Amino acid sequence: MNTILIFFLLFLNLILFYFLNKKKIKNFFYKSQIQLVELDQVDEIFLNNKIDHNLYGPKKEVIVKNFCIQGNNNIVGMTSDYEAWIISSLSKISNNIFEFGTCSGKTTYLMALNSPDKGKITTLTLSPKDLKGIKKNKFDNKVSYRNLINESIYDKFLFSKTKYESKIEVIFQNSLNLNEKLFLKKFDLIFIDGGHTYSIVKNDSEKSFKMLKSNGIILWHDFVPGKESAKNVVRYINTISKEKKIFHINNTSLCYYRKR
Ligand SMILES: C[S@@+](CC[C@H](N)C(=O)[O-])C[C@H]1O[C@@H](n2cnc3c(N)ncnc32)[C@H](O)[C@@H]1O
Repeated sequence: MNTILIFFLLFLNLILFYFLNKKKIKNFFYKSQIQLVELDQVDEIFLNNKIDHNLYGPKKEVIVKNFCIQGNNNIVGMTSDYEAWIISSLSKISNNIFEFGTCSGKTTYLMALNSPDKGKITTLTLSPKDLKGIKKNKFDNKVSYRNLINESIYDKFLFSKTKYESKIEVIFQNSLNLNEKLFLKKFDLIFIDGGHTYSIVKNDSEKSFKMLKSNGIILWHDFVPGKESAKNVVRYINTISKEKKIFHINNTSLCYYRKR
């Protein structure tokens, strides 16, 4: 009897341990199919500049205009400051930029602040009024779908009424209905950060491959294996990486593809 009780308690403890450490256990066994690269492999602007035999610093191309959003601001769906700096730096060398998913417009604003004076940013987002038409597909992750709804709350943005607004075109449209033929091979930089459900990530990515200029870069946000809301992003990128050379940038949730 005692032995049965001991085994039962042991079993209960194992189950409890699994549920408390589910994420860590999954990450331990997770083997990424995407090659991890250092930032300086993405573009030579990220190579260090030698200042002295024991001191290296940033090149002038990666000195950017920046701002931070304070924690008490309650803005949802943002990039980290490091990711924002990477996107700002790449914006400096991009004349035509497209963003899937505007949200508060934080990244859009950084793109406008840092792109060349004649640069143009097109950003596509759902209007809070259009959410009724958004349906969950059977393969779509529940948490991603819920986030999509919670992040579609803005129709004014951080750049609204600033002088940078004239560089930005906001398109209020479901990306599933975007006619990519209007933008073939047009963009130097495309940032995919719209809906994180499988159907939307797949749609946005397939359209981006067609909209990208030769030598242009696509960046995906939220490649975080083990994170529930990023599950579909990870699954899609892993799948497409069998056909396209996609890399994961170290210490970020960004993946990138360059059209050679
Ligand atoms: C994670 S937020 C974007 C964050 C933003 N890129 C930033 O860096 O601050 C996701 C955005 O994607 C938009 N979105 C989600 N699904 C979409 C769809 N099917 N078509 C267009 N926009 C979509 C949401 O309305 C929301 O604005």
